Order: sequence, then C-alpha cells, then structure tokens
Amino acid sequence: MPLKALVFDAYGTLFDVHSVIRRCEQLWPGKGERISQLWRSKQLEYTWQRSLMRRYEPFSLVTRAALDYACEILGAALGPREAELLMRDYLELAAYPDVAAALEKLSALRLAILSNGSPDMLDPLVKHCGMERVFAAVISVDELRVYKPAPEVYALAVSKLGVSADEIGFVSSNCWDAIGAKSFGLSTYWINRGGAPVDRLGFAPDRRLNGLGELPALLAR
Ligand code: LAC
Repeated sequence: MPLKALVFDAYGTLFDVHSVIRRCEQLWPGKGERISQLWRSKQLEYTWQRSLMRRYEPFSLVTRAALDYACEILGAALGPREAELLMRDYLELAAYPDVAAALEKLSALRLAILSNGSPDMLDPLVKHCGMERVFAAVISVDELRVYKPAPEVYALAVSKLGVSADEIGFVSSNCWDAIGAKSFGLSTYWINRGGAPVDRLGFAPDRRLNGLGELPALLAR
C-alpha cells in the first residue's frame, strides 16, 4: 500500500531539544550539557510514569518539573528568571539542519506532527520554525491525556488524518517511539542520527536512517 501520509515525532526528531545547552552553559558554566541531558531524560521518564499512574499533566508542566529536578540534582540554582528563560527557549528550539529540505521534498504527502508536546508548546515552536503551512495537522496527545507510546496515541493520528493505518509512515528519532508506533501497526522510520543501538522492546523499526535527509530518496524507490 503506497503511503499517503507521514507523521513525525516533534522533540528530538524535528526539533533539537539540546538547543538549550548554550543557555544552560551561560547560566551554569561547566554544567550545560549535563543539565540538558538530564532534563530531557527526566522529562521522558515523567511522561511514562504519569501515564502509568494515570496522573496526566500537560507536557509544559512535566517539562518544567523535569528542569527543576535536573537542576537540583546537579547543584544548579534555578530561580524564576532562569526557569522562565529556559522554558521560553523551549518554544524556540532549532530545527535540525536536515529538516527543512527533507520536508520540502516530501510535500506531496500529507505531513503531520504527532507529539507528546502540549499545544501551548508545540504551536509556538512550529510557528517559530516557520512550519505552520508545512503540516496538515499538529496533533498533541493532550486531548487523550496519556503519553506515547500508548497505542491510542498512534490511533489518534489515524483518526485525525482520515487515512488507514497502512497508508501512514511514522518517523521518529526516539527509538522507543518508533517501536511504539510499530507495535500499534504503523510503518516506521527511525532517524538514528547518533548511531544508537535499537531498544530491546520486542519490535524493531522497519527502516533505520542516519538522517532525515535520507527519507525522500528511500520513499521514492
Ligand atoms: C515527542 C517527544 C517524544 O515529541 O519527543 O512526542
């Protein structure tokens, strides 16, 4: 079945969450990279833990809480000013350098975002990157109040886009997310920019690519 739509993960796939390293480094010299790494990993952990607890809070609150934790454990003083600067930076993350050209080449397909991000974070970010017209839909888990990789989240993309699951390709750099989509039943493309090993979760993504730039040629074959 030829693909009709491509659904992209947002954070870590299109937008570089570690764009905040520079600000972290300015605020807490010598700790920028560690804060950014821990901030991201705690943010993800909290999404999974809250989903299991059935205590959903929007990604903006989860992200803020993860920043708090990362700063405390790494001994970085986080006051209201620092928190505001970093949360604002999250609305202005950089798109990876391979994103714009790849999306342009893929524009014959319906393109959408499916993200854990809440609309209060996703909408300004997509606008900041000048991508409002690129995507047919920016779909947030927020209306379901559960995070990826819950299967109902991937089902939301199917219902919102109005195409069948086998006509959707799901694209993520987060291996667990690509595997979640595969487990649900989508064709999956794992953008493995960092050359990481595949997660051991019982499924593997259908295709592994070194960057988003490889996707248009792969799909044209
Ligand atoms: C997202 C997270 C997984 O954008 O990065 O959904």
